[in-house]
Amino acid sequence: MDKLSITGGQSLSGRLRVSGAKNSTLPILAGTLLAKEPVLVGNAPHLQDVTTMIELLGHLGADVVIDEKLNVEVSAKDLCQLRAPYELVKTMRASFLVLGPMVARYGQAEVSLPGGCAIGSRPVDQHLKGLEALGAKVVVEDGYVKAEAPNGLTGTDVYMDLVTVGGTENLMMAACLASGETRLHNCAREPEIVDLGDFLNTLGAQVSGHGTSTITIVGVSELKGGHYRVMPDRVEAGTYLIAAAATGGEVFLTGADPHTLGAVLEKLQMAGAEISSDDDHISLRMSNTRPQAVDIETSPYPGFPTDMQAQFMAMNAVADGTSTIRENIFENRFMHVQEMNRLGANIELHGHSMAVVHGVQNLRAAPVMATDLRASSSLVIAALVAEGTTVIDRIYHIDRGYETIEEKLQQLGGSVQRVR
Ligand code: EPZ
Repeated sequence: MDKLSITGGQSLSGRLRVSGAKNSTLPILAGTLLAKEPVLVGNAPHLQDVTTMIELLGHLGADVVIDEKLNVEVSAKDLCQLRAPYELVKTMRASFLVLGPMVARYGQAEVSLPGGCAIGSRPVDQHLKGLEALGAKVVVEDGYVKAEAPNGLTGTDVYMDLVTVGGTENLMMAACLASGETRLHNCAREPEIVDLGDFLNTLGAQVSGHGTSTITIVGVSELKGGHYRVMPDRVEAGTYLIAAAATGGEVFLTGADPHTLGAVLEKLQMAGAEISSDDDHISLRMSNTRPQAVDIETSPYPGFPTDMQAQFMAMNAVADGTSTIRENIFENRFMHVQEMNRLGANIELHGHSMAVVHGVQNLRAAPVMATDLRASSSLVIAALVAEGTTVIDRIYHIDRGYETIEEKLQQLGGSVQRVR
């Protein structure tokens, strides 16, 4: 099993190109199932999760071709399978996003329930409730969600009980081929939702209001082919910015969209970073070497993202002062705390949703274990700060969401090697 060996102590400095967004690419690839003609998805990152989604599309009968520039072309003219098996869904929850497109286009689908995962129980009740409102008959049997709408879906008002990114995406895609108008209420407003809506409109869908809490979709009879370029990965960009800030460094990110990172950039400035940006670059410089401790609280967009909570905690671990971190989205997203404390951090957990971080002057290398994707990247940041060589085990988690992380960190002067 691959590990990362990181010798800390260097300030990260240099230029980096941000990859395409994983959390946009996955729903967009699921959305290609709505189209009868070939769809070309550009700027898709080369990541394990993207490979899993491509495998699933292939399993369902879509033809997938990846060219030398890593554009992914999906032709889903006729699917031979309307069943997404447990083996593919269990490794990645985003596989569940094929449900909406398949029911909408073929009037039936069976998708394995994704089950719980390391960061929390993560139910899909809102996806199912919404599909039922659109007229599908939904049953859960033998671990599979079986949905049927032999006469097609029908547009209506759908009220989600809570803000869910995946739920909003599944229902947006399903509604594209429903008859009449659908209004989705209490929607997630994440930039990836905006990207998905823009993608669907490129194929001829009529989606409006994406990026606000009410999305309106006027159903059309079919979606055509097209070419779409995925947005930059805001979580990857944020991770490298935090890494540079934690190490007292300086970084210039190209192909990054500052408009999607407002809450994170504000907190980094409060920590002492000087930030400048234009439409497709962000640069960060630490004005004094040690960051100031900053409180954060996660919430749906445009609040501080849960996907950057762990990385920010790594910076707070070596900051001047004490900070409070509240996690409001997932019930078990503090697994990095124990590992950071092994590196000499002083972090107390108060229940499942609050951590108090007493900043220490230095961390020291120790063997640590990655438990999930963003927890892994937080340990990378902590290891870059720590004195000595830290080996991070179970690094396969990081390959799900960060393209060539060791090369990118080396490019910034980090001493990072992949070892077996
Ligand atoms: C997306 O997951 C992201 N994944 C996650 O990224 C991200 O952490 C999360 O949104 C929140 O921003 C992708 O985009 C592929 P949710 P998703 O539905 O859609 C509860 C990463 O590290 N809920 O918004 O699964 C749920 O349990 C990851 O890249 C219900 O109760 O998240 C959670 O507490 C991990 N019922 C909250 O809502 C439902 O039907 C938010 O989940 C659906 C969700």
